[in-house]
Amino acid sequence: MHLVLIYFAVVIFANAQQSVEHPVPLPANADTAQCVECHAEKQQGKHVHTAISLGCTTCHNVETKNDSTTIRLTAPPEELCFTCHEKSKQATLHGPYEKGGCLLCHDAHASDNDKQLRAAGNQLCLECHRNRPISGKVALFKTAHELSESEFQEIPKIDLDPTLKFGHPMGAHKVADAPNPLQPGEKMSCLTCHENHGAEREKLIRMAEYQGKQMDVCDACHLARDEASMAEAQKRADALELQRQNEEKMRTKQAPAGPQRPPRPPEKNP
Ligand code: HEC
Ligand code: HEC
Ligand code: HEC
Ligand code: HEC
Ligand code: HEC
Ligand code: HEC
Ligand code: HEC
Repeated sequence: MHLVLIYFAVVIFANAQQSVEHPVPLPANADTAQCVECHAEKQQGKHVHTAISLGCTTCHNVETKNDSTTIRLTAPPEELCFTCHEKSKQATLHGPYEKGGCLLCHDAHASDNDKQLRAAGNQLCLECHRNRPISGKVALFKTAHELSESEFQEIPKIDLDPTLKFGHPMGAHKVADAPNPLQPGEKMSCLTCHENHGAEREKLIRMAEYQGKQMDVCDACHLARDEASMAEAQKRADALELQRQNEEKMRTKQAPAGPQRPPRPPEKNP
């Protein structure tokens, strides 16, 4: 049974990899310099994949026969990235990562987002995990990567308020736009609690470090938050005390302490 599935998977991969005729015939020895004459944008962007510097033909196989050029990937898209990037060995893997669907979240060449991601921050996750009315296929991130209606519906969805800032994993818990006590200066996001590729725990929940100890991310953040609010309360108390002392000093200057003794009456000679 499994063998049959594997066989079909291989057939599908082989088709996915099937060569496509390039619209322009290229010389047999076409190299990166030529590719970028027409495809300059593949090596431009705020975040360019390091592999681009190895040349276009690292991933694109160019074959020219007679007057026709065909270009295909050097490995099926589901395997290509793993030829250089080791697969995570964590216990729970994120579905699209496990299946080699790297291109659903990353651009192979370059993007304006860190790590060549197709969207920044929570927007990346919500593209698949936010329920919204759809009819027919869903073009993820407006790319050629499409999910069928039923594939989209099978992805577990989370409930958030309309501003997409709170409501998960329970009550009015925040998921965005709130300070992250574990990483001062940073905001909370989906990745504060979840891993992106894989985790040891269910639901891709991360572990976190607090005061040198590895622990549940919920505990770590809540301890850090309590400490931060205690420190905040202490700061407020210190400020109040200072203010009290200053006021005290002012009062002492304006009205010197202690009852003023009336001037001594001149001494009378007996
Ligand atoms: C003279 C211009 C030109 C040159 C040089 C060129 N391309 Fe293209 N290429 C195009 C055009 C036009 C298209 C179709 C529109 C598009 O996808 O951008 C295309 C499409 C593609 C595609 C998608 C369709 C397919 O065939 O799979 C790939 C991949 C590609 N080019 C890779 C390359 C690589 C790699 C090189 C260098 C070896 C290269 N191109 C050189 C013009 C060029
Ligand atoms: C790390 C591997 C890798 C390298 C290096 C690479 N590509 Fe690609 N390229 C891909 C993959 C994977 C796709 C399919 C993209 C998809 O389905 O989202 C692709 C698709 C394309 C396409 C057609 C689809 C599109 O996104 O427009 C063009 C054109 C292209 N590459 C050009 C280039 C050029 C030019 C270079 C060199 C500057 C280059 N590539 C280097 C992996 C690579
Ligand atoms: C030919 C080898 C090669 C292939 C194939 C390859 N990469 Fe890379 N990739 C690299 C190298 C080298 C780096 C830089 C070192 C590192 O961060 O691991 C890198 C870095 C990255 C980074 C991290 C960028 C950063 O800023 O830290 C991402 C994301 C990435 N690759 C995604 C992909 C995806 C998605 C694919 C499949 C389309 C892919 N890679 C295929 C070699 C490759
Ligand atoms: C569901 C979306 C998603 C998928 C699918 C995905 N990634 Fe990522 N990947 C991310 C995010 C988000 C980050 C940035 C994490 C961070 O900044 O902490 C990242 C970071 C990376 C990095 C840089 C950091 C690191 O872990 O080394 C590499 C390399 C990378 N991904 C490769 C891949 C490869 C290869 C695949 C496919 C097997 C893949 N990714 C599939 C979302 C995804
Ligand atoms: C391309 C679509 C896609 C994107 C983008 C995406 N996911 Fe997922 N996610 C899935 C699918 C499909 C599943 C169901 C398969 C599985 O359980 O891993 C899933 C499952 C999950 C689960 C439940 C895992 C479990 O073990 O039950 C969590 C948590 C999750 N995703 C978090 C995230 C986070 C965080 C991001 C952003 C970094 C993200 N996802 C981005 C498709 C996506
Ligand atoms: C404060 C921590 C936290 C944050 C932030 C967070 N999550 Fe979760 N998430 C959880 C926990 C805990 C669970 C498991 C809940 C359960 O099993 O009932 C979960 C479960 C999930 C699931 C699986 C739901 C299912 O039905 O299986 C998905 C998908 C998910 N989260 C996506 C996201 C996305 C997308 C974001 C960002 C918008 C996000 N989470 C932000 C803690 C968090
Ligand atoms: C990055 C920090 C962070 C993480 C991680 C985090 N929380 Fe919170 N949580 C907060 C903050 C901050 C509040 C208070 C929100 C407010 O004041 O509006 C809060 C509030 C709560 C509350 C409401 C009661 C209270 O103490 O105010 C519960 C319950 C809760 N969190 C549970 C969890 C669980 C369960 C997890 C792990 C899945 C988790 N939290 C992970 C930061 C975090």
